[in-house]
Amino acid sequence: MNDVIILGIESSCDETSVSIVKNGCTEIATVVLSQMDTHANYGGVVPEIASRMHVENITIVIEECLRKANLTMEDITAIAVTYGPGLIGSLLVGVVAASTLAYIYQKPLVPVHHIAGHIYANNLERKMEFPLIALVVSGGHTDLIYMKENYSFEKIGGTLDDAVGEAYDKVARVADIPYPGGPLVDKISHEGKDVYPLPLPLDDDTYNFSFSGLKSAVINLVHNEEQRGNTICKEDLACSFQSRVVEILSKKTMRALKEYGVNHLIVAGGVAANSGIREKLKELCEQEGVELTFPSMKYCTDNAAMIATAGYFAYQLGRRAGYDLKAKATDPLN
Ligand code: KG4
Ligand code: ZN
Repeated sequence: MNDVIILGIESSCDETSVSIVKNGCTEIATVVLSQMDTHANYGGVVPEIASRMHVENITIVIEECLRKANLTMEDITAIAVTYGPGLIGSLLVGVVAASTLAYIYQKPLVPVHHIAGHIYANNLERKMEFPLIALVVSGGHTDLIYMKENYSFEKIGGTLDDAVGEAYDKVARVADIPYPGGPLVDKISHEGKDVYPLPLPLDDDTYNFSFSGLKSAVINLVHNEEQRGNTICKEDLACSFQSRVVEILSKKTMRALKEYGVNHLIVAGGVAANSGIREKLKELCEQEGVELTFPSMKYCTDNAAMIATAGYFAYQLGRRAGYDLKAKATDPLN
């Protein structure tokens, strides 16, 4: 059987990334150009700046990736691209670049949902075994997804308000922890103690999550302490916040595994890099005999290797887009 070589393009937020992956499991080359330093000056991603920088960099990143892989476009079987969800101006750059390349070189164009990409990042670690439960935790998503087989996504629960990464970033901002908030809150949480009485959010028998109440509790705590003339201990705040997040995510995830009779768990998205979540799920999965996979750290946050990997499975299932593929800021995973 001939190798299937997918060139993936990801530009949904503030990373311009291109990757070439063979047969949905072997990374040949990946280039990720992060705009983080630029956006750090503004305390968050500025959409107009992000799309402008994608325009400036996309061609360079495509050429660099092919050069790194020592391949030409003739060697590529198909082009996979993130069409959504994400920042519309950013997505458009990747979609236009991918459809132009596909048209010029007459290659199939494969549309990939950004979250499918995050999930399939796990296939670069170990072959995904079905059925499985995917816990998707990123800046825009917090979902529990049941996958009966390849490319079948049944959402069994999700956040009713803020995504977990978004809550991390907002808590960081209110506690005056610099951008990017999530990784820093995680880092300093290990230097603190769980002393602040924060609520365990949406501790019910659904698979849904809610982080806005926990976020508001942090904001109120910081303001009340300020009014009393007390200084908040950032490390203790980070530790208390992270403890609640880890507890509720792991509690609902472990219950889903039991109720669905599944013993494979994968974790996906930027917050899959979180050390508290990694440690707790590792401990619980070992206890319960559940096989647990995390993407390696470099594939947790946005990258095109995950898009090329998901693209391989979408390609095998015959998913194709026309050269008029539209970017979508929001779109359900299916
Ligand atoms: O998946 P991603 O790169 O972008 C989206 O698709 O949303 O995730 C980015 C999110 C940000 O909110 C960032 O603060 C968070 O992931 N994040 C973390 C950690 N590393 C990244 N949150 C908590 N702990 C971390 N170690
Ligand atoms: Zn992402």
